[in-house]
Amino acid sequence: QTKFATIKGNDLYIDGVKATDLASQYGTPLYVMSEGHIRQQMNELKTKFLDKYENALPLFASKSFSCLAIYKLASEYGIGIDCVSAGEISIALKAGFDPDKIYFHGNNKLPSEIEYALSHDVTHFVIDNFYEIELCEKIAGELGKKVKATVRVVPGIKAGGHNFIMTGHKDTKFGFSSHYGIYLKAIAKILNSENIEYEGLHAHIGSQVFDLYAYISAMNKFMGFVDEIYENFGVVTSKVNAGGGYGIAYNKNDEPLDFEVITSEIMKVIYGHYDEKGWAHPAVMIEPGRYVVGNAGITLYTVGAIKEIPDVRTYVSVDGGMADNIRTALYDADYDGIVANKAGETKTKNVRVAGKCCESGDIVVKDVNVTANIMPGDIFAVFTTGAYNYTMSSNYNQLPKPAVVFTYEGKTKCVIRRQTFDDLVAYDVTEDYK
Ligand code: LLP
Repeated sequence: QTKFATIKGNDLYIDGVKATDLASQYGTPLYVMSEGHIRQQMNELKTKFLDKYENALPLFASKSFSCLAIYKLASEYGIGIDCVSAGEISIALKAGFDPDKIYFHGNNKLPSEIEYALSHDVTHFVIDNFYEIELCEKIAGELGKKVKATVRVVPGIKAGGHNFIMTGHKDTKFGFSSHYGIYLKAIAKILNSENIEYEGLHAHIGSQVFDLYAYISAMNKFMGFVDEIYENFGVVTSKVNAGGGYGIAYNKNDEPLDFEVITSEIMKVIYGHYDEKGWAHPAVMIEPGRYVVGNAGITLYTVGAIKEIPDVRTYVSVDGGMADNIRTALYDADYDGIVANKAGETKTKNVRVAGKCCESGDIVVKDVNVTANIMPGDIFAVFTTGAYNYTMSSNYNQLPKPAVVFTYEGKTKCVIRRQTFDDLVAYDVTEDYK
C-alpha cells in the first residue's frame, strides 16, 4: 500500500525524500502526505469509475482530509466531493472547487449552513431527516433556489471497523429509516415540494469496511427501495449514491478489498436491476475518503523519554500523541511504525509508543517491534495516518497542530503550516465584564 515509502540503508524515504531531512526541515510532529499516492488513488477513482461508467461520479469524502491543497487536487481529477459542513464547503470554494460537484451531507445541517450552501450554488444535498426537508423547502424558496435531493436511507446492515463508525444498522442517527415506510413519507414530501427535486437515494453502511457482501446486500436492499418508490409514485430513481467506507490496511492483518471489485459488484447489482426493469441506467456515485488519503499519510515524531517497566513493557514517548492522532484512543486503532533513522536495523524490542498528553489513553501505537537501539532523538514514523488524523486533531494540552507537508517525486511542499504559540491565543479575548 505504501510503495512510496522505501528503506535505503538505514533510512526511511518518503517519495524519495529522506524522513530525517523532512523532520529537520519542518520539525516534528509532522504530517507527511505522499502527493504521489493521493494522485494514484484519485486517478483510480477517475479511470476506474468516472471514465468507465456513463454519468458516474466518484466523490472524495473530504471529512477524511480537508484543506485547500486536497480540494485543488480533487478538482484536477474531475472528481466531486462530499462535504459535511459549511466550513468544509467554504474551504472547497476558496480552493476554486466547482459547486456543482459538491454534495452536502450531514444529519443536522444548520439553517445558516443551508443558506450558505445555496447562496454559493451548492445545491446537491444528501437529505437526512424531515426537519431538513422543511428547512430546505423554506430557505430554497426564500433564495429562489432548487435543492437537488439524494435521500439517505438506512439499509439495515451492520458493517464497519468499530461501533462508532457503523452507520448502516437500524439504531443510527443517520438517514431515514426503511422501517414502516418512513423513507417513503420523506420521498412523498420531496415530490410534493416546490423547491426540492427528487434525484435519488443515498446509502452509506459504515467506514473501514472489508466485507464485500455488505456492499452487495446494501445495494440489493436499495433496489427494493427503488422499486417501492416506483410502485408508490411512478418515479424512476435516477441517481444512486452507494457511499464510501472502503477499508484500507493499517497493519498486516487488514485485507482491503480491491477498488474495481467493490465498484463492479455495486454496478452489477444496480445496472442489472435497471436493465431487468427496462429503465435507463441511473447516475451512480461512490464516496470513499480514507481510501484516497489514508495510506498516503506518515506522521513523523521525535522520540523522547523511554521508560522500561520491568515484567510489563517499554514505553517510548514521542512529541505528539492523541492531539494529532485520536484514532488509537477513540477506536482502538492499530497502527504500525518504524524508527526512520534506524530503519535497516533488526527489530528485536517490543514497545508501546505513547504520546505526550496528560492521559493514560494517549497511545499512538499499541504494540510494535523496533530496534533495541532506539533512543531519544530518533525519528519515529507512523504509517497510514492520512485519513481522520489532521481533520480530527485538536489543541489538547495546548499542543500546536503539526504542519502538513506534501512529498512528490523527490520534492516537498508545506500545504498547512505548523501552528505557533501565538495561534494558541489567536481567538482569546481579554475583555472585562460589562
Ligand atoms: N460517506 C459518508 C456519508 C460518510 O459518513 C463517510 C464517513 C464517508 C462517506 C467516508 O468514509 P470512508 O471512505 O472515509 O471510510 N473518524 C472515523 C471515520 C468516520 C467516518 C465518518 N463518515 C475514523 O477515523 O475511522
